[in-house]
Amino acid sequence: MIITIAFIVLIFLLTRFLKSQQQSREYVNLPPGPTPLPLLGNLLSLVKDSHISISKLAKKYGGAMTLYLGNVRTIVISDPNLIKQVFVNQSQDSTNRFILETAKIIGNGKNILFSNGDYWKQYRLVLSRSFMRLKTHSIMTDKINKEAEYFSNSFKSNPIIDPAHFCKIFTSNVMMEMLFNDRSKYSNTETHKIIEAIKNVEHGLAVGSSFDALPFLKLFFPNARKDLIKTLEDVWEYSKESIVNHQNSLAKDENQINDFLDLLLTEIKGSGNESFYDMEGLYRVCSDLLISGTETSASTMTWLILYMINNKDIQMKARKELQDAMGDKKYLTMEDKSKTPFFNACIKEVLRIAPVGALSLPREATADLEVGGYLIPKDSQLIMNVYGLATNAELWSDPLIFNPNRWLSEDQEMSNYQYIPFGIGSRACIGSSLAKDEIFLGVGNLLLNYEIDSENGKPLTEKGNFGIALCSQPYQAKFTPLVI
Ligand code: HEM
Repeated sequence: MIITIAFIVLIFLLTRFLKSQQQSREYVNLPPGPTPLPLLGNLLSLVKDSHISISKLAKKYGGAMTLYLGNVRTIVISDPNLIKQVFVNQSQDSTNRFILETAKIIGNGKNILFSNGDYWKQYRLVLSRSFMRLKTHSIMTDKINKEAEYFSNSFKSNPIIDPAHFCKIFTSNVMMEMLFNDRSKYSNTETHKIIEAIKNVEHGLAVGSSFDALPFLKLFFPNARKDLIKTLEDVWEYSKESIVNHQNSLAKDENQINDFLDLLLTEIKGSGNESFYDMEGLYRVCSDLLISGTETSASTMTWLILYMINNKDIQMKARKELQDAMGDKKYLTMEDKSKTPFFNACIKEVLRIAPVGALSLPREATADLEVGGYLIPKDSQLIMNVYGLATNAELWSDPLIFNPNRWLSEDQEMSNYQYIPFGIGSRACIGSSLAKDEIFLGVGNLLLNYEIDSENGKPLTEKGNFGIALCSQPYQAKFTPLVI
């Protein structure tokens, strides 16, 4: 039975592939790219280290390149001028997210990451306003400051650890406290159910992307999506309960603002369109913020610790600058940021050399677009090659060397569109400012309190692992408390 179904699906997909190839031939002016195989398209060239493979292909085929991910016609943009041309000059037709099945499961068209059109605009507006208010709200800055202290102290009883795990607890605690006023303890063994759920969702997303490209795989792994849905439901349930509690306490006292959710709910109330923001939208948006705000910042922090280990001179220089900026205080706060240009440059540099959103989040061409004299047909998937842009030797000197000084030197000529770790335009990352604050306080406090080394004193590999985000390879680090 299963063989018969597989055969029918195979014929169906082959027919679709031939049809899409015929359509592509009709678009004579597509950007160049490698020849696709039936069903798989160009996926075989991308199996390993897809961010590096795509960048190598882009060197050969140019700043605008056509790839087929399974049947999905995808245009990859790897040139700063073409990024501007597509995502800025023609932004009205390149703002939508490209929605495949996994995105539908997560969003159902009612979240922020994967919704489009008017629905997305309305949510983006209230979220942006709430983030703006969050930035100036003292409760929030106090929360991040406090959490950074716990984070730094937690290394005292765990001198040799996997920093990735602790960074994830830190960023998920910041998100949980910021959103819901809830947090978990630092420990190697105990993890909060939400952290566990986020880990599973990431895994489900990475697996899901293969199913999106090759839908016939679903036949052979019927339970793969069920696991993703089950885990998401845990996060949604948790969010729903918290939203109801917040609504109830705001009904008693609307001036009692304790967290981001309170800010969002009051923003919605003031929008004059309260009924638009129903429970499904709210819990999906909260779960988006938890998921997109945890792994991204934690991976960047883990990368920064890795580069500090591999570059002891930079580690020492950053520590000295932070000590001078802080004076007699015990812990760093956001007010110190203006006094630490070198450490700020280290954060900029890690976002360049190890951009966790290496290929950003795919967009969709909602009309025919023009790129460098080529045509991008309507309905194509659009990918900004964030990693390729940030490591292109024609744009950067020694791009694979971690060199914070490049940000302090006058010599580095730069287009606005070659460094886009948080994406670009009206769809750019909504949490970029929070992420930078977390990295500053989290890693800054560690540098002030510990000398950081690899477990065996040898340099760590700088080769990344690209799943749904670009992460470092797992490593153990030694944290030796500094006697101050
Ligand atoms: C170092 C940390 C982070 C990086 C590198 C990062 C990167 C990105 C990128 C590349 C995009 C897609 C932008 C585009 O399409 O142009 C994005 C979107 C998004 N990010 Fe982040 N992000 C980070 C942290 C965060 C945090 C802390 C939050 C939440 C508080 C967050 C929430 C979001 C959301 C909601 C979107 C979707 C926005 C929309 O579709 O309108 N991100 N991020």
